[in-house]
Amino acid sequence: MSEVILVTGGAGLVGSECCRLLVENGYEVISVDNYARGDIFGAAGDTERTAETRLLDENIDHRVMDIRDDEMEDIVASVDGVIHTAAQPSHPKSIEMPVEDFDINVRGTLDLLEAVRTHNDDIPFVFTSTNKVYGEVPNFFSYEKVGERFEPVDETLFEGFDESLRIDQNMHTPFGVSKASADLYVQEYARMYDLDAACFRMGCITGGAARAVELHNWEPYFVKLALTGEELTIYGYEGYQVRDVIHARDLADLFLRYLENPRPGEVYNVGGGRENSISLRESFDLIEDVTGNSLSYTYGDQRKADHQWWISDLSKVRSHYPGWERSYDLREIFEEIADALRNELDTA
Ligand SMILES: NC(=O)c1ccc[n+]([C@@H]2O[C@H](COP(=O)([O-])OP(=O)(O)OC[C@H]3O[C@@H](n4cnc5c(N)ncnc54)[C@H](O)[C@@H]3O)[C@@H](O)[C@H]2O)c1
Repeated sequence: MSEVILVTGGAGLVGSECCRLLVENGYEVISVDNYARGDIFGAAGDTERTAETRLLDENIDHRVMDIRDDEMEDIVASVDGVIHTAAQPSHPKSIEMPVEDFDINVRGTLDLLEAVRTHNDDIPFVFTSTNKVYGEVPNFFSYEKVGERFEPVDETLFEGFDESLRIDQNMHTPFGVSKASADLYVQEYARMYDLDAACFRMGCITGGAARAVELHNWEPYFVKLALTGEELTIYGYEGYQVRDVIHARDLADLFLRYLENPRPGEVYNVGGGRENSISLRESFDLIEDVTGNSLSYTYGDQRKADHQWWISDLSKVRSHYPGWERSYDLREIFEEIADALRNELDTA
């Protein structure tokens, strides 16, 4: 009999990619999503459409429900592993709704951990954390402009930040705090109660399934504006800020490897790494290449606790999971996003 994996937030970008990859690898999936993303971001950000297009498979049992519902206990008791992606995922949004952000991200995660501890304590548990747990700490380093991007003055940071970066005594936004809190609970449950649970701290995850809204997932949003000719606002750093981008499928592949070989209590920085790093200004050329349209832009105020430069040092995750490697490069990612958005705009 196949193993059954619970994917929370199964209609989301990462969740839907996990559901599909699990099924391709012979697993059955229970997907749980209450489409809160539509309430948080409005129709353009809704993931109901993702569920309708990407979760139609006889081995995916997709259920429209909240991770905080009591019935989750029975579901957790019945499965062979959990990938927990459901969240309020936006740091600017969390500033407007800190209490709901807490309730989804902290209480929702704690409820799941408790269900695992009480009913099924030897299953693996993947938590999708974030590099926002480090708050503003990356901004405490010095950077200089090199071409169209910032680079750190300290050359030892060239390959990115590792997991030793401190997380406290700085500003995070409520989202950074709620995810850091959930991240610490996951680590604590692994150590205190011997759960096979670990945290994966990402920066920019994207792909064709990413919904294009201003306050979450900048890549599809920029591509959408290039396609529609609307003006982009760059918030801070004049576009020299650097991000490292990973396709959601590469992440799903890593999670699958974790389920099959758990390393309890670990935290991993995961992203596109140095090779998939790009500044916002550099992305304009790539987007123009991919869409044939140039982006027009203006400048807005810098966002609170927004990173000036982030690259994930992949050394630890590569050493613990040597079979895993990022497979999508930046061009492939942006091409997939542009194709998906062209389809969506054509059918709108
Ligand atoms: N996308 C990124 O760049 C990024 C970066 C770092 C970390 N993360 C983390 O990865 C995870 C997945 O991100 P994503 O980009 O796939 O987000 P997403 O918004 O696409 O997916 C999250 C899904 O969770 C659902 N959801 C929210 N609250 C829920 C609840 N109470 N009950 C059930 N479902 C609920 C939403 O409707 C949505 O479909 C999140 O935990 C996020 O914080 C994402």
